[in-house]
Amino acid sequence: MRSHNCGHVNAGLIGQEVTVAGWVHRRRDHGGVIFVDLRDREGLLQVVFDPDAEAIFALAERIRSEYVLTITGTVRERPEGTVNPDMPTGRVELLARELTVLNESKTPPFHHDENASEELRLRYRYLDLRREQMQRNLRLRHRVARSMRGFLDEAGFIEMETPILSKTTPEGARDYLVPSRTHPGEFFALPQSPQLMKQLLMMSGFDRYYQIVKCFRDEDLRADRQPEFTQVDIETAFLDEFAIMDIMESLIRETFKRVIDVELPNPFPRITYGQALARYGRDAPDLRNPLELVEVADFFRDVEFKVFAGPAKDPDSRVAALRVPQGGKLTRKEIDAYTAFVARHGAKGLAYIKVNDLAAGAAGLQSPILKFLPEAAVAGTLERVGAQTGDLVFFGADKSRVVNDSLGALRDQLGRDLGLLEGRWRPVWVVEFPVFEKDAEGHWTSAHHPFTAPHTESPEELLANPGRALARAYDMVLNGTEIGGGSVRIHRPQMQSAVFELLGISEEEAATKFGFLLTAMEFGCPPHGGIAFGLDRLVMLMAGAESIRDVIAFPKTQTASDLLTGAPSAASPEQLKEVGIRLRTPPAK
Ligand code: AMO
Ligand code: AMP
Repeated sequence: MRSHNCGHVNAGLIGQEVTVAGWVHRRRDHGGVIFVDLRDREGLLQVVFDPDAEAIFALAERIRSEYVLTITGTVRERPEGTVNPDMPTGRVELLARELTVLNESKTPPFHHDENASEELRLRYRYLDLRREQMQRNLRLRHRVARSMRGFLDEAGFIEMETPILSKTTPEGARDYLVPSRTHPGEFFALPQSPQLMKQLLMMSGFDRYYQIVKCFRDEDLRADRQPEFTQVDIETAFLDEFAIMDIMESLIRETFKRVIDVELPNPFPRITYGQALARYGRDAPDLRNPLELVEVADFFRDVEFKVFAGPAKDPDSRVAALRVPQGGKLTRKEIDAYTAFVARHGAKGLAYIKVNDLAAGAAGLQSPILKFLPEAAVAGTLERVGAQTGDLVFFGADKSRVVNDSLGALRDQLGRDLGLLEGRWRPVWVVEFPVFEKDAEGHWTSAHHPFTAPHTESPEELLANPGRALARAYDMVLNGTEIGGGSVRIHRPQMQSAVFELLGISEEEAATKFGFLLTAMEFGCPPHGGIAFGLDRLVMLMAGAESIRDVIAFPKTQTASDLLTGAPSAASPEQLKEVGIRLRTPPAK
């Protein structure tokens, strides 16, 4: 149907006849001459319809945006002054000789150049995907996946598929359930990850596995979360965490180099989970941001100011300071806005000290809390955070979780607002996570997932002191986004049972849910471990996109629905009957 792609017609073809096919990007009438920018996946080409060619000129007058055409014509140099250096085809144009309208288009609900609402973009996703940015993002995604496959293939990893109709895999979200027709009243769970299957593949002797695979999690959505998303899922046998991390950072380094020509550091820096929380308030810190939290509780244990003294004395709490260089410029209004901001993260207030003149001592400081605090404590604090004249120091004093959440979020926000981010790409490994965390009711939950190996080899030691146990787990974080996470796994049934016991999973429940895994472990399970990368998140960062929705062809909304197809939707009474389901409430639509 065509001899060339629109975007490939260049000065080398001047004088030649070509046939192109594509969509009408724009049509302009210029005093008797009609210009059409014709678009295909490779780019735009300017086509000229001369009124002397009467028959096709009349046809050209009828064409509108998004009509699908083939055009044959002669490539010629653009007249002086009309060359467009920003377009790869900007030196040439096509003088049309033949025009065929392959299909018409209704007036599209939004134009390429407009900022359409996301709702409209998702409803007419096929139109949205025609936009150059989306074409670029999805082709980048293809190149990333291809590069990762190539690397893994060369490193001896075997691509294998695992079931989608499956059993629950605890990754901390709700399962999506699929009712079984052949077993009424019973359900498959869609995998939250292939975690257990890839462990079984290691027990099956494959040694190195990978898969680019859909995972399903019914959880609260955010800009970097989708209910179905894609993992580059990897598992190896007979390697410890250091060997695994080495291969995985090579995979990411090589992908950045090959796909977007970026050199990432070698090796990636590593910090512990404890350090990450202490210094950044988060377990996925953005290292481009130079601001750091500094512990200052020791200065305030014996002061009268209860807001600081209480948390300073409580082992579950902290008093942290955040120095903002040149933050003295912040106005009262801006500080009030930051106070409201941290309140959304649970903070009860946001104390601060402005350092107007460091050399002047107490007289050079400005703060609503100075009157409550001994001079020595303030001076010690300012010295520890390295305060300079012109700076502002914020304080958080509360349960450690609240201080970390609120000052961690404040640090991110200040980084954006004050333009503090340094460097383009800052990867970091976060290691030494705890094995367990306490939930709101005080029960142990897995910090990663229940198959993660603790540092100790002894189930008795783990049972005796679960709160202190560290995990052989690692997260890869890039610019403040967790792009991958993994661990060395438990490979002995006794340790696995101890973890289930601590999680409050009874022997019976463990047998029903994970019996197959525990049994498999009894037949010669090799030491093994792995990781999963969030492909959507990785591509989002590489594309410079704001949301993973912009790198997924057909994403879901914040309320986990698909505006294009209207899914989810009601099932017919017959379908429900077949799977043995009666609804307690009728569907809303
Ligand atoms: P984890 O739950 O950390 O680990 O997931 C691995 C990576 O997947 C991405 N990710 C998501 N991306 C988009 N939307 C979501 N809802 C979403 N949830 C997770 C993140 C994350 O780092 N089985 C383990 C891996 C292992 O231990 O090997 C697992 O799934 O980038
Ligand atoms: P108050 O005594 O509650 O008026 O607080 C005095 C100052 O301390 C105000 O600037 C508050 O914003 C700040 N403040 C109150 N609670 C906290 C807290 N938990 N952490 C940090 N600052 C706080």
